[in-house]
Amino acid sequence: MEKYSKLQVFLHWATFILVLFQFLSPSGIGEVFKLRLENKDFEVGALVSLHMAVGTLIILFIFSRVWMRLSGLEPQYQSNGQRSLKILARIVQFSMYGVLLLLPITGGIAWFQLSIDARNIHEFLRPVLLVLVLIHVLASLFHHFVQKNSIFKRMWF
Ligand code: HEM
Repeated sequence: MEKYSKLQVFLHWATFILVLFQFLSPSGIGEVFKLRLENKDFEVGALVSLHMAVGTLIILFIFSRVWMRLSGLEPQYQSNGQRSLKILARIVQFSMYGVLLLLPITGGIAWFQLSIDARNIHEFLRPVLLVLVLIHVLASLFHHFVQKNSIFKRMWF
């Protein structure tokens, strides 16, 4: 079995935890953004800054993963022979990379340019990411428990 390197495994799980943090931490960035739009007084608290910093870290992590993948440094997709599943897995994985890059980029444009369009895209992409992550998690559980192959293990330390 070809395994992911320790760095790739670290980046994968660190990204997972950072994304969870973005969704679960009550940053209050939505309210501060609204105040900025209305030209009212606002204060950028630590959690709002953290939301932006964590988002920036996610971009760096995803760029490194995409770069490693495009340079052939990541293991090949482990096929169970079904071409349609392989294509689906590829679509979900690349969509996840795309959404994980677009989320922080649109968040940054919304914040720095006070762009409502970018804010709307930032909002729209959130459930899209959740659906993609759900499919990804269900697929890996299916591999582990139903097909009993080592796909899950190779993304572990
Ligand atoms: C993958 C990275 C990111 C994820 C998963 C994410 C996720 C979220 C979530 C769940 C919210 C709503 C909850 C809340 O108000 O705290 C939100 C709001 C917001 N985020 Fe992000 N964010 C990311 C990156 C960024 C970055 C890098 C910036 C700015 C530099 C940013 C700017 C904003 C703004 C301005 C809002 C308020 C407007 C809105 O409700 O859409 N985000 N983000």
